[in-house]
Amino acid sequence: MGLLWVTPRARLRRLAGRGGPSPLAGRTVLVTGASSGIGEATALLVAARGAHVVLVARRADELARVRASIEAAGGRASSYTCDLTDLDAIDALVERVLADVGTVDYLVNNAGRSIRRSLDLSYDRFHDFERTMAINYFGPLRLTMGLLPAMRAQGFGHVVNIVTWGVQMKAPKFAAYIASKTALDTWSRIAGRETYDDGVTFTNMRFSLVATAMVVPTDAYDNRTSMSAEQAAAKVVRALEDRPVTWDTVPGRIGGVVNVVAPRLSDALMARFHRSVPDSAAARGATPEVSEQQ
Ligand SMILES: NC(=O)c1ccc[n+]([C@@H]2O[C@H](COP(=O)([O-])OP(=O)(O)OC[C@H]3O[C@@H](n4cnc5c(N)ncnc54)[C@H](OP(=O)(O)O)[C@@H]3O)[C@@H](O)[C@H]2O)c1
Repeated sequence: MGLLWVTPRARLRRLAGRGGPSPLAGRTVLVTGASSGIGEATALLVAARGAHVVLVARRADELARVRASIEAAGGRASSYTCDLTDLDAIDALVERVLADVGTVDYLVNNAGRSIRRSLDLSYDRFHDFERTMAINYFGPLRLTMGLLPAMRAQGFGHVVNIVTWGVQMKAPKFAAYIASKTALDTWSRIAGRETYDDGVTFTNMRFSLVATAMVVPTDAYDNRTSMSAEQAAAKVVRALEDRPVTWDTVPGRIGGVVNVVAPRLSDALMARFHRSVPDSAAARGATPEVSEQQ
């Protein structure tokens, strides 16, 4: 759903029944946040399509586990530990990856963190806004900027950003998270216009709820319908192959339209929603061991 403005070649592949090898076969695909959740599931699927997958995250043991299962299935993977909030570490990563595996053809900016906390609980927590920007915006920006010159020089590249339907919905309690994802979404739209003539394109994937470790601390999500990480990964792979501008959900699109045509009605509805769903125990700091994930 939501595959808009796919490339002409992708449209032809679809008309032809998606026959033939995946365009990912023989390519190099770097996936950040490949140690769990959507990133791990994406890495496994991309490897099964015949790509060389470059796995990036902080937890070396988890990366080794994902790499081992790719290799056990006959796939090809390399792994690099990197804290993607450390700009110098990202520069070093770019240098190593380009030297070790050459130009990255596809980049999946997936690593991220979510914070769901109302403004009432945020006045003395400016670091929430800084840390979401660090991992959800400045990290992927630095990495993309590092890999872009080689993509542009070879006349091909595609970047998929895992953002959120919140970019369209603008849901209360998610100001820090959604603002940081919106920055990446908007930056990529503009960057894609400048790189268009060089064959380098971007997709923003605006997912709704996906059942991963990230959403566990939020008790408001209990019993909510969600996609599995594997279902989300299948959509990421399709976006890598077809290169649409955006992938989004019907509710996200409706939310986006209401925000434009009836913004005060949208505010009133969201204010009611905000009142009816309180901050989670983790966001209030009532469960300290998980509150930092919130
Ligand atoms: N789950 C949802 O409902 C949902 C909805 C919309 C969008 N998303 C987005 O989907 C993406 C993947 O999240 P997920 O749901 O799959 O959650 P997850 O299982 O918690 O995965 C998060 C990944 O990001 C990596 N990461 C976090 N901080 C990092 C850092 N500083 N440096 C390097 N890697 C870092 C983690 O690896 P390490 O801990 O090993 O570093 C992990 O692999 C995120 O960008 C999230 O915002 C999720």
